[in-house]
Amino acid sequence: MTPTVAVLRGDGIGPEVIESALSVLGACLPVRVREALVGGAAIDATGDPLPAETLAVCRASDAVLLGAVGGARWDGAVRAEDGLLRLRRGLDLFANLRPARYMGLPTALRDEVARNADILVVRELAGGVYFGEPRGGDGTGAYNTWRQSAEEVRRVAHVAFRQARSRRRKVTSVDKANVLETSRLWRAVVSQVAREYPDVELEHRYVDAASFELLQAPRRFDVVLTENLFGDILSDELAAVSGSIGVLPSASFGEGPSLYEPVHGSAPDITGRGIANPVGAILSVALLLEYSLGRPDLAHAVNVAVATTLRERRTPDVGGTATTAEITSAVLSNLAWARWAQPDAEESGLSYGWGV
Ligand code: NAD
Ligand code: IPM
Ligand code: MN
Repeated sequence: MTPTVAVLRGDGIGPEVIESALSVLGACLPVRVREALVGGAAIDATGDPLPAETLAVCRASDAVLLGAVGGARWDGAVRAEDGLLRLRRGLDLFANLRPARYMGLPTALRDEVARNADILVVRELAGGVYFGEPRGGDGTGAYNTWRQSAEEVRRVAHVAFRQARSRRRKVTSVDKANVLETSRLWRAVVSQVAREYPDVELEHRYVDAASFELLQAPRRFDVVLTENLFGDILSDELAAVSGSIGVLPSASFGEGPSLYEPVHGSAPDITGRGIANPVGAILSVALLLEYSLGRPDLAHAVNVAVATTLRERRTPDVGGTATTAEITSAVLSNLAWARWAQPDAEESGLSYGWGV
């Protein structure tokens, strides 16, 4: 049966990178696309950043592909970002996988430091200070509540250890257990779960130290397991290893349909200029093909096509002059070749599978 993919383009460069991602997905296999509104686009049309119909469309699909949400126009009482947070909640997405690896692009790090780095951030997505109640404030003060349940930690920790088993068998759990009760619980539960994975090495790091080490010696990390807010911050930091925030993909898992979205936001500063890097969105399609549509072969072909493309053509964020459309056409022609050739990934040095 033809799979159904809910497509939520969102705001800013969201629609631009989703256009690219959809053409790559469509070149891989036939899919039924169901478009729905989210974020600022949904506020403009309905007053609500996550209309009930959007959630219903997502729940009834095999996977969800999302661009980005947010923008200054929707920074009032009703925020575009709420659409994304409510969508994650509505689909009960609790584990967010954010792979970052060295891709041969210019980076802010010395080449010998970044080269061959390959890190998977597993971010808890349903708890922490993002969702804790009560929250509120007025002009004189404001407050949030940081809550974490043992069950939230347990289920995401299992995801991280399972991922580590298909990678280099090492989990670095990142917390702030020297200060926060939520982190002490985090550390205790992660240590408990680790006993079920004696073949995987576990180490604990405080988030401040980890944020430095990730840039100082990225190669010593394999899977980085952390809570919601720390994961948000550390995954953007890892753009320094890959070359740009524009190339990072992500996948979020719960019990139902999974959500695929680039890590970056709506990038208001470059919206409408045709220069957004579509690679994060295209690599999110590769994750979608692998995890939701059961086609690791096609995922691999997309990853190879992207790697081949980046050797020759790049958008301005990674030091080139190519447009979004030019990168997309190059990926599409390289994809035709990659599907035909299926080269030995290790030998060709073109491996961009995420080790699942
Ligand atoms: P951002 O990720 O949108 O942009 C940060 C910087 O990276 C900007 O200079 C931008 O031009 C650049 N950039 C981002 N993606 C790029 C791409 N694909 N190609 C080339 N350059 C790219 O972060 P921000 O500026 O802090 O946030 C802008 C808006 O996006 C805010 O409203 C924020 O809340 C929202 N946001 C949404 C998501 C999401 O939808 N998942 C994620 C992050 C931020
Ligand atoms: C991300 C974004 C979101 C987050 C915002 C837009 C709610 O920054 O997906 O990284 O903080 O999770
Ligand atoms: Mn973020």
